[in-house]
Amino acid sequence: MSRNRERAIETVDKALAQGETMPPADMLFSYRGVLYPATLSSPETLEALKSFEARSDDVILAGYPKTGTNWLDQMLRELESADARYTEEEMKERMDAEKKLELSVRLEFGDPGMYERMKRLPSRRIIVTHLPPHLLPPSFFQSKAKILVLVRNPKDTAVSYYHFYNKMPLLPSFSSWDEYFAAFMNGKLTWGSYFDHTVEWNKHSDHENIMLISYEELQEDQVLGMKKIAAFFGFSLSEEDFSRIAKKTSFQAMKEKSHETHGKFGDILFRKGVVGSWRELFSKAQNEEMDRKFEECLGGTKLAAMMKYDVYCKA
Ligand code: A3P
Repeated sequence: MSRNRERAIETVDKALAQGETMPPADMLFSYRGVLYPATLSSPETLEALKSFEARSDDVILAGYPKTGTNWLDQMLRELESADARYTEEEMKERMDAEKKLELSVRLEFGDPGMYERMKRLPSRRIIVTHLPPHLLPPSFFQSKAKILVLVRNPKDTAVSYYHFYNKMPLLPSFSSWDEYFAAFMNGKLTWGSYFDHTVEWNKHSDHENIMLISYEELQEDQVLGMKKIAAFFGFSLSEEDFSRIAKKTSFQAMKEKSHETHGKFGDILFRKGVVGSWRELFSKAQNEEMDRKFEECLGGTKLAAMMKYDVYCKA
């Protein structure tokens, strides 16, 4: 089992069980105007996060929920360990350290004391977050830490998040797709507005320590995508490593192992894993509304070109 996985499964399984009996009104809390799941985080944790100290060799992954963060998280871990060439013993030591420190799978999950414990993690730390730039600790940008930002087209992200919201016991369900669609467009979901996130990250896209990659690009040619990521982080891997990792992190392979890697959460997470499933739910009016909003927020940007909005999102 990969680093920190056992602990992650325990935490998420516990949160899922708590969610089963929780009244919907208690499931979320708001911090600086954004909603979060109460079973996984707290205002105290988010307050403590401000003083988190990034290291220059931290490997950071940021992405709005449902953009494929679990997929890229797994890829990054594989790329980092292939580059580091850890021995079995070193790997075990790293896993034990993470387990002992009781860390969480996302930077913003867990207890406020977690950030102190994270100081004891050996380098290179792999840090994953759904937070947008303005809610991240200032040290992320002051250090030389590199941040890989994952984006996915808004229509597939919206559909993926809809199914997730309705299947996750720790999030309040929506009674219909139409009700959910309005919430997505108005940013009334956990981690806030997709558009705010994406617009904010786009502003950082030319920063030397930030690299943007899209879910669509990784679907088109995963090996090429991983080569770009490896070059960005300075990882050195062989052709064989890249093809081994691509096989190991294919949707089918990850879904088959999901009980081992993600526990019960795996059944919710690995849904379809394709580009274009938005066509099953969007009405003509919703499609047009999304096209207008995307154009208004991101039309003509590098990011829009990268996710190939015109190819994957036009009816
Ligand atoms: P769908 O709901 O469209 O299937 P996140 O990890 O950020 O929560 O994103 C979840 C989305 O990534 C889900 O999309 C999930 O199926 C997809 N995903 C997970 N693993 C994947 C993989 N190995 N290849 C492609 N897509 C994957």
